[in-house]
Amino acid sequence: MTPDEFRALGHQLIEWVAAYRERLPDLPVMSPAQPGDVRRHFASAPPEHGVPLEGLLPQLDAAVLPGITHWNHPGFFAYFPSNSALPSVLADLVAAGLGVQGMSWQTSPAATELEEVAMEWLRQLVGLPPTFSGVIQDTASTATLVALLCARERTTGHGQGRGGLQGETAPLTVYASEMAHSSVEKAALLAGLGRDNLRLLPTDDAHALRPDALEEALRTDVEAGRRPCAIVATVGSTGTTAIDPVARIGEIARAHGAWLHVDAAMAGTAMACPELRWMWEGVEQADSVVWNPHKWLGIGFDCTAYHVRDPDHLVRVMATDPSYLRTAQDGAVKNYRDWGIALGRRFRSLKVWFVLSALGVEGIRAEVRRHLALARWLAEQIDATPGWERLAPVPLQTVAFRHSPSGLEAAALDAHNLALARAINASGKAYLTPAVVKGAQILRVSIGATGTTAGDVTALWARLRDTAATLAARR
Ligand SMILES: Cc1ncc(COP(=O)(O)O)c(C=O)c1O
Repeated sequence: MTPDEFRALGHQLIEWVAAYRERLPDLPVMSPAQPGDVRRHFASAPPEHGVPLEGLLPQLDAAVLPGITHWNHPGFFAYFPSNSALPSVLADLVAAGLGVQGMSWQTSPAATELEEVAMEWLRQLVGLPPTFSGVIQDTASTATLVALLCARERTTGHGQGRGGLQGETAPLTVYASEMAHSSVEKAALLAGLGRDNLRLLPTDDAHALRPDALEEALRTDVEAGRRPCAIVATVGSTGTTAIDPVARIGEIARAHGAWLHVDAAMAGTAMACPELRWMWEGVEQADSVVWNPHKWLGIGFDCTAYHVRDPDHLVRVMATDPSYLRTAQDGAVKNYRDWGIALGRRFRSLKVWFVLSALGVEGIRAEVRRHLALARWLAEQIDATPGWERLAPVPLQTVAFRHSPSGLEAAALDAHNLALARAINASGKAYLTPAVVKGAQILRVSIGATGTTAGDVTALWARLRDTAATLAARR
């Protein structure tokens, strides 16, 4: 493809994306595709000879689009949002056009230095103290793995340089709430710490980690000769956006010499609002903090912000030093390849720069407050309507609840709510996530797509009531 051909097709594709965003509200939010529906549109082997790409465009509409679940749809209430603001789309285009691989400062100084700027902007945006340094990771899952690897190495005095975990005599233990994201469990397992040494602890009525349960677990482990390695506090849990008490957990971590990792994957964006920062009061005690600009902030997937208090420790754990990676500037610059697991690095800071510039801090705060108000409105409707039951506080933008018609025992109630969620999702008008919290089937409405308006939330509430009534009448 020549630059001229690229220009011509590129204009068409920009138009295609713009038109797609305009007609989003008319598309079914959850893809109606059945397994295999998309695949059957494609040849089973690559073409022997190249074909003009223009010929592929009809397939975007016919084969790809029906297989898309639309995360930027105003009726997207599932999981947590993953907004991709149009400035982010443009930044990704530039990044791809530049084709940069920013593993070292020298391999593209702009990629490193703009990432330094982007992480400093993000740190200020969420009000973390200047003692934190940052790096962009692909996902919170990776960042939490990096955190637990760093915790492991601190506890063992850099045992990786000796016999690793296999050279340790006492097991290392990790603590989190039973509501922590599955990435915490995965990271503990991948870090070699072992399921036997992972404590997923009970929570209080608001689904937050109970400090007394944490202290008790630590006491038991220490008495048994185990070594507390890391505590993960969640600010905004996946199920119900529960807020673990970070300040108290930080004191406990310090008393035991354990690493404190704060997972604010979703809630991080809300920390742009000073009035919400109580949620992670005490965060300055953390050794590492992760949050996802690729969730609520509008920076397209993937972009995770990972802030650490001791970058030298991070680099010591992560760095390798083969001759072919050395450059004349080593020692005078950051080589971000030494700040994480991957060697190769995309130019992700471009989209941070574009989106923060386009929205401004006030624009971000306004969007967070707008979504919080919509969630509060929905919570009020649920509280005021007989037969509906809210199952968790709503500190952020997620409402956890269920329809509880009288006369249903537990299993039937669970089945009714699961059927309700599936019916809503199949309608194509809205998409939400059914989940199980403490054994109960809940409906989980997570408000945060950029296009979602009060009208969309009102329509969802009406649809929930109508569908619930229809299902109940069928019993
Ligand atoms: C609290 C929490 N932590 C971690 C994650 C994992 O995020 P990622 O997909 O970036 O790994 C999620 C995902 O929703 C989450 O809710």
